[in-house]
Amino acid sequence: MEAPDLDYIRKQFPALQDGYVFFDNAGGSQTLKHCAEKISDYLLHTNVQLGASYTVSALSGRRVASAKQQLAGWINASDPVEVAPGPSTTQLLQNLARSFVKTLKPGDEVIVTNCDHEANIGPWMNLREKGITVKIWKINRDDLRLHTDDLERLMTGKTRLVAFTHVSNILGTIHPVKEITAFVHERGALVCIDGVAFAPHRQVDVQDLDVDFYVFSFYKVFGPHYSILYAKREHLEKLPGINHYFIGEEDLPYKLQPGNVNFELTWALTGVPDYFNELYSAHFGENEKPAFQKNSAVFDLLSAHEEKLAGGLLNFLAGNPKVEIIGEGRADRSVRVPTISFVHKNIKSSDIPVKVDPHGIGIRYGDFYARRLIEYLGLGPKGGVVRVSMVHYNTPEEVSRLCRIFSELL
Ligand SMILES: Cc1ncc(COP(=O)(O)O)c(C=O)c1O
Repeated sequence: MEAPDLDYIRKQFPALQDGYVFFDNAGGSQTLKHCAEKISDYLLHTNVQLGASYTVSALSGRRVASAKQQLAGWINASDPVEVAPGPSTTQLLQNLARSFVKTLKPGDEVIVTNCDHEANIGPWMNLREKGITVKIWKINRDDLRLHTDDLERLMTGKTRLVAFTHVSNILGTIHPVKEITAFVHERGALVCIDGVAFAPHRQVDVQDLDVDFYVFSFYKVFGPHYSILYAKREHLEKLPGINHYFIGEEDLPYKLQPGNVNFELTWALTGVPDYFNELYSAHFGENEKPAFQKNSAVFDLLSAHEEKLAGGLLNFLAGNPKVEIIGEGRADRSVRVPTISFVHKNIKSSDIPVKVDPHGIGIRYGDFYARRLIEYLGLGPKGGVVRVSMVHYNTPEEVSRLCRIFSELL
């Protein structure tokens, strides 16, 4: 397979032009010029309230409606009403939990993991205040994976929801969401997936996964600080609204969006599908294939490149006996994304990134709000892990640069 044209790719991101190496992409990726231009174009030319009859309001309305359509297409949702944009994954999940709890009765059960970011744990944990039992599905200590036989032991006839992550923002391991979802559905419960650490690297196909709820944030997918919640229409119709009392239960998904959407950011998100469309043309030529198929080809190209980046760093780390990789050791793109964490036998995690900073490379350490995982692994005293998180615009030269610095440091 052809390699991605990194010169072309990197030109789309102004922040990449001055040679700084961004290796904290799981914290937030760089933003496409295209997205930033769309924000300013919206604000400077069509910044009015939607829903009025005058020309500019109608134009703004068409922009936002087209954005919702494109976002639905991006994740293969069958209907744009299934996509609720909102300020952050954390906020969207809190909104969802506020609505979902109204469908539960005391004694009902919800299951969360101990390897998620707190965004997909806390809102569900809080349901205990309403008499809901919350159980914890613990990751297996040996292979750091979620096992369905452990889940089986937790599920009962009262289990209503299992909330888990597609990829841990620390471990990088891809969980088999489709299989786990089928397993949960067979036992009569719904799933809520945090796709934040997955979405920058692979195509999300909500219909193929058959998930009930799926959420991620575009500031990690080359766009601005804005997020989307996917909710399957049949559930959305039944979920009680959390918006003003006069917003109808049939008003999908507005009943779950108090404060409405941010228009300029919703519009700006379309810069991401635009970019993928351009990447497709640049690598495979012009043709009339459906956008989802084109995106799939682009993700395939980019993930092969990401696998090489991950391989370079993992091989280097595996060769140092004082380093322990926390997560999947293989670079294979079917099992992991290039979000790589490690600890050092003798050096605290907090002492490593500051020594890399002066070389013009940004990495970081900590628990990354997956605090329960870090505590479970006993890594609190280390200051958490050191994390190097790469995306497709990173280069093998950048990885080599980091490895050279690490070889003196670790
Ligand atoms: C895996 C994961 N889930 C959820 C979040 C929270 O996303 P947001 O900042 O949009 O609330 C993050 C942020 O780092 C994350 O890495």
